[in-house]
Amino acid sequence: MKKIKKRTVIELVILVVLIVWASWYLFMGRKITGVDDNVAVGDEGTHSLVVYFSREGVIPDGIDAASSASPNSNQYEAESDTEAAAKMIAQLTGADLFQIRTDRYYRSAFWGTAATAWIEEALNLRPGLAAKPESLDKYDVIYIGYPVWWFNAPMAVGTFLESYDLTGKTVVPFCTSTDNGIDVSMDYIREVSGSATVLDGYRAHNSGLEDVSAWLERIGMLEQTDEQQDTETGLTKSEADIADTDPEVSELPNVTEGTEAYRDFVIDNVYHSADAGDIHYNVYIPESYDGSKPYALYFTLPGYEGLYFQGVAANIESEEFGFEAQKYNDEMIIVAPQLNDWGETSADQTIALVEYFLQQYHIDTSKVYGNGYSGGGETMSIVMGKRPDLFTAYLHVSSQWDGEYEPVVDNRLPVYFAIGRNDEYYGSAKTQRAYDTLYDLYERQGLSKEEIDSLLVLDIKEHDYFTGRNAPNEHGGGGLFAYDEEIMGWLFSK
Ligand SMILES: Cc1cc2nc3c(=O)[nH]c(=O)nc-3n(C[C@H](O)[C@H](O)[C@H](O)COP(=O)(O)O)c2cc1C
Repeated sequence: MKKIKKRTVIELVILVVLIVWASWYLFMGRKITGVDDNVAVGDEGTHSLVVYFSREGVIPDGIDAASSASPNSNQYEAESDTEAAAKMIAQLTGADLFQIRTDRYYRSAFWGTAATAWIEEALNLRPGLAAKPESLDKYDVIYIGYPVWWFNAPMAVGTFLESYDLTGKTVVPFCTSTDNGIDVSMDYIREVSGSATVLDGYRAHNSGLEDVSAWLERIGMLEQTDEQQDTETGLTKSEADIADTDPEVSELPNVTEGTEAYRDFVIDNVYHSADAGDIHYNVYIPESYDGSKPYALYFTLPGYEGLYFQGVAANIESEEFGFEAQKYNDEMIIVAPQLNDWGETSADQTIALVEYFLQQYHIDTSKVYGNGYSGGGETMSIVMGKRPDLFTAYLHVSSQWDGEYEPVVDNRLPVYFAIGRNDEYYGSAKTQRAYDTLYDLYERQGLSKEEIDSLLVLDIKEHDYFTGRNAPNEHGGGGLFAYDEEIMGWLFSK
């Protein structure tokens, strides 16, 4: 008995010592001193300030770091990532510049910094700052830059922004990261920016001055210096070029248009929806479209690999639905949204974007199609449960049904279910159940088998369908349904 007690006491002491040591290690890095609250002054009379949090350029004694010693993701090898991006913005806009420094260094070991950052994020802490400007009154625009830490912004960014009244100001977030986009951190930035207007964020990745300049122009923050404005139209040369080729697209309200293309798609357009937030999408508009006659509309939602945080255009780089669809109707606008999850938020964003396209483009409302693959199928099934009235037919690929059933039946929305018998993620039983549920509901409404078959198709593919097409597995092979004329032909014949 005594022995057990003694052992327990020793273990407890070791545990306490470990906790004290870990707390000291994680939160008691060397104090950052000698920092003042002065901003680096930009152009005379500027009303913009670039604020950034970043790795310290020089690490005293190599012991501590203000953030990670991670490899640079920009073209300015000598500096830490966010600092380089911040300096480019300041250089281009003439804004003042200020670096946020916490009152203590983070540990130079990556996992030291990572653990501290994780705890700070999990507990929504606000680390103290070494210094900050007394007032931001003279600024209208605050650019706020940070490295993505644990998908989010470092908490020190919150400490900084929350310590000012930002009413009437515009906050422009930008980040650097190894993989993740800025979107996940946007909720946090909005939250800590109070009543400021927060613009859509920008991720600087392998970015040089030209990229940063293009972004600043896009969001209207850069005066047109090298681009003469047309006095009649008020458009810059590049805007006028786009307007020449596609007047419908260039004058879209509440949309920041993408400037780059992948195959036939203009990528990374953003619809700023008042209700559903910023919605990223890639879009294919046939060259023949001039708004004079109605076109079909097709929305394709990708699996997890194509979500926005996987990278711009990751959806159309990894799936062929948007390209194969073009073979079935050359008068069809194809939208490939890149959302951030497969639940309710993304479903509401999809609905908002469909409504937007119906409003802004000349669409034949009897030809509005949707498909969702994997996680995208989960999202699309919620969409179909909420707004089946918007669609003509829906293709549900290698997924599960998360939406309502009754509205689908009440609207007589044709649905095609396609999946592998032994789909590695979902199996096929859930798909079978979804099909059976819809089938039962139609039967209860008195529809004949023939009528139901014209509305519902259950297509469970056996394993050899996938092996015969060199698919890596049945779930991944769901992407091959894009090439299947029977499946795609069904969708676009409705
Ligand atoms: C604690 C910590 C967490 C990180 N988390 C992420 C992450 O979730 N996603 C990501 O893409 N990069 C992540 N990174 C990498 C940094 O965002 C990236 O290297 C950034 O460009 C560093 O910028 P800096 O040099 O200005 O500190 C993380 C780095 C650190 C130190």
